[in-house]
Amino acid sequence: MNRRIAIAVVIALGVIGASYSALRAQETRSVWDGVYSEAQATRGAPLFDRECAGCHGPDGEGGGMAPALSGAAFNANYDGQSVGDLFERNRTTMPVGKEGQLSGQQIADITAFMLQVNKFPAGASELAIQSMMLKQIKYLAQKPSTP
Ligand code: HEC
Repeated sequence: MNRRIAIAVVIALGVIGASYSALRAQETRSVWDGVYSEAQATRGAPLFDRECAGCHGPDGEGGGMAPALSGAAFNANYDGQSVGDLFERNRTTMPVGKEGQLSGQQIADITAFMLQVNKFPAGASELAIQSMMLKQIKYLAQKPSTP
């Protein structure tokens, strides 16, 4: 084989390999990878207090009529779903009586606060406000063991 072609093939394979691992890394992102920031959860806390705590309790521990948004039962409900699913649930069905009235940013901040309350680690970047992107982040009740 011509030497130049051989080099081009090697480079092309490298590029394909690198994008494949980047894709894999994205696919396997989960709530354990620091997907919201501390500052975002801090912004979400007063919003949660105002819009959600009346029914769900100050830390989402559950109230008379509304289920808990933290703890084992809640985590079991969302285990295997995505942060996008939770975001969409919050955005389209909550707060009861004011459904769909909060902005995407407010819902993302509230969702960040919920991740904090459920003891998932904070990281450097904020949760996005597009559910397409949030669908790529898995909600896993248990921390996956590192391979
Ligand atoms: C007026 C009372 C009320 C308010 C305010 C309210 N909720 Fe709810 N929420 C409920 C009730 C009742 C349910 C259970 C029935 C249902 O699923 O619709 C529920 C269910 C949920 C669920 C599903 C829980 C699960 O295990 O699947 C989520 C998530 C949720 N609420 C989040 C929120 C968030 C976030 C806010 C604030 C933005 C909020 N709620 C405000 C009453 C309320």
